[in-house]
Amino acid sequence: MAATSLNDSPAFHRLQARHAETSAITIRAQFASEPDRFQQFSMHAAGLTLDYSKNRIDTTTLGLLLDLARERAVEAQRSKLFAGEKINTTEQRAVLHTALRAPAGQTLWLDGQNVGADVQAVLMRMQAFSEQVRSGDWTGRDGRAITDIVNIGIGGSYLGPKMVCQALRSFAHPRLTCHFVSNVDGHDLAAVLARLDPATTLFIIASKTFTTAETMMNAHSARSWFLQDGSTGDLAKHFVAVSTNLAGVTAFGIDPANMFPFWDWVGGRYSIWSAIGLSVVLLVGFTHFRAFLDGAHQMDSHFQEAPLERNMPVLLAMLGIWYRNLHGSSSVSIAPYHQDLSLFSGYLQQLDMESNGKRVSATGEPLTIASGPVIWGDTGTNGQHAYFQLLHQGSDLIPIDFIAVLGASHTLPGHHAALLANCFAQAEAFMRGKTADEVRADLTAQGLGPVAVEALVPHKTFPGDRPSNMLLMEALTPATLGALIALYEHKVFVQGVIWGINSFDQWGVELGKVLAKNIEQELTGLAQPERHDSSTNALIAMARAAASSK
Ligand code: F6P
Repeated sequence: MAATSLNDSPAFHRLQARHAETSAITIRAQFASEPDRFQQFSMHAAGLTLDYSKNRIDTTTLGLLLDLARERAVEAQRSKLFAGEKINTTEQRAVLHTALRAPAGQTLWLDGQNVGADVQAVLMRMQAFSEQVRSGDWTGRDGRAITDIVNIGIGGSYLGPKMVCQALRSFAHPRLTCHFVSNVDGHDLAAVLARLDPATTLFIIASKTFTTAETMMNAHSARSWFLQDGSTGDLAKHFVAVSTNLAGVTAFGIDPANMFPFWDWVGGRYSIWSAIGLSVVLLVGFTHFRAFLDGAHQMDSHFQEAPLERNMPVLLAMLGIWYRNLHGSSSVSIAPYHQDLSLFSGYLQQLDMESNGKRVSATGEPLTIASGPVIWGDTGTNGQHAYFQLLHQGSDLIPIDFIAVLGASHTLPGHHAALLANCFAQAEAFMRGKTADEVRADLTAQGLGPVAVEALVPHKTFPGDRPSNMLLMEALTPATLGALIALYEHKVFVQGVIWGINSFDQWGVELGKVLAKNIEQELTGLAQPERHDSSTNALIAMARAAASSK
């Protein structure tokens, strides 16, 4: 990763000058003066179209952004990523999620091991297992087929499988329902268990480390629930594990034959492509999972091979840098106009914020410039009736990524045209805005007098010039979903390179985990309350009092 600060970068200085020179030019004015703006600023890759014409850019600005990418050695870092170099330097690990979706037969040596062959071997086991469960040949303790799958995991061992199962629900096996339990809050597990018959339920304990407190607590509670009227001999029919930790899985009591392994070179938030995707394979079948991997692989090939000016993840990343570091935008809103993608922005939250939410460089120096933004959002049209007000007329500039799917997988008349109309209209409205003169003309035409008109003009004016990207696909399929996720993975990677950070560790989650362990012991009486600050002391005392009054 580039060690020097962006503040010392000549390319960044040129961008700062460019920002100052162009700040008065609106996107609306650019559309008026450049009729072929869509042709100039749109592209296709791996089944996705990116229209980035509604951004505050022109060819000069874009050229300067790509100069910055070159100066920060994005191409060299990209080669290291795909070659399996140990770019996660604080953990001395390679970052090889791209190997998980490479075609069968691809060889990649890592520490003397052909990881390509390892990946294919696990995929074959996932295929065989899923075929047994889906056909009904894999039966529960009383001989009935499995009907419910419960994935117990958190973070990357939860968000990915849940999001993908939701996104691909139109491909689901009719007999199978997937449930996802993540929170240590027992309301989560209890609500799921209440709906289940243990004899037809399969639990997947999904944890890279097999030590994560929430997952272990939920896994033990699920096992106790199962054993209330079942025997340990039946566990093998109902519990499987996905992990890198064979010893932990065995100690928990899961037969190693029921363990689907993956490797330390797969980061949790990049693990949906590994055996962590087992619930997806069970729900939609191996053929669709393979198509999902292939879609991601197509995006990988594009990212590796396309020149930077026609490289979708690079363009998306550099546009983000333009807003984050030159316009001071501190968040990005994700607006998928497809209900099956309702979990997508939550998934991207972990992908982006756990990767680039860092304040020191890969070599440990404090960053002197802003890094990862807040990622948030919800599906359209729902968001339009909740927070789009702020996006249109609030005081902050928040770039938006719209995601739209041209074809629907339902047959209800009218809905899809209404959905797409809203999506395109919002992008147009953010870009155009509505000037004070346009508001005046409208209100006057409605018959309002001059005083009433002037009182309303400031409220009804939209500043416009609010940038957005539009990502389009023909249909939401396993392949296009795979490409979409890989697109964002690579965007996050490129931005991490620009900021010079290690996007692949997550030390920021550790402190709270340690403190929670201590406080849990104090709450349950296993340890004497320590001296915390007065606030934490009081909160602990209240929780202890509430527990002892029961
Ligand atoms: O606490 C953060 C984290 O380490 C994530 O990065 C990871 O996806 C999640 O916890 C779950 O970890 P595991 O799969 O090891 O249970």
